Amino acid sequence: MRKIPALAATCGLLSLPLAHGDVGQLLQINGCTACHQSAARIVGPSWQEVAQRYGDGSKSAEQLAASIRSGGSGKWGAVPMPPQTQLSDADASSVAEWILTTAHP
Ligand code: HEC
Repeated sequence: MRKIPALAATCGLLSLPLAHGDVGQLLQINGCTACHQSAARIVGPSWQEVAQRYGDGSKSAEQLAASIRSGGSGKWGAVPMPPQTQLSDADASSVAEWILTTAHP
């Protein structure tokens, strides 16, 4: 059910300088955890919901990283997400990759 074919293809393109635990730190340092949690929807969708929606390959890690940095609205509810430009491209990629591969329920 949660196959990630597109991700397998893009994996090689992404550098993953951070181990899993460091992504947790990134999420905290960059304020993501104020609006996102692992399993429960608070202001924004839970990481698990995001993983479930895009884990089928409908959005690649690169697309998700771009979406994190530019923010967005209307995909999950009425509340918009402000752009997260404080996150570097590399960090955004690490976070996106982590969400798609690791955040499954
Ligand atoms: C002020 C609250 C807030 C902060 C801070 C925030 N988000 Fe969000 N985020 C949201 C909301 C609200 C949505 C849903 C937007 C929508 O409906 O399109 C969202 C959506 C997302 C999505 C889904 C994007 C998509 O394309 O569907 C991801 C991934 C995400 N956020 C990651 C992050 C990360 C990583 C950070 C930290 C760098 C972060 N968010 C910081 C509120 C926030």
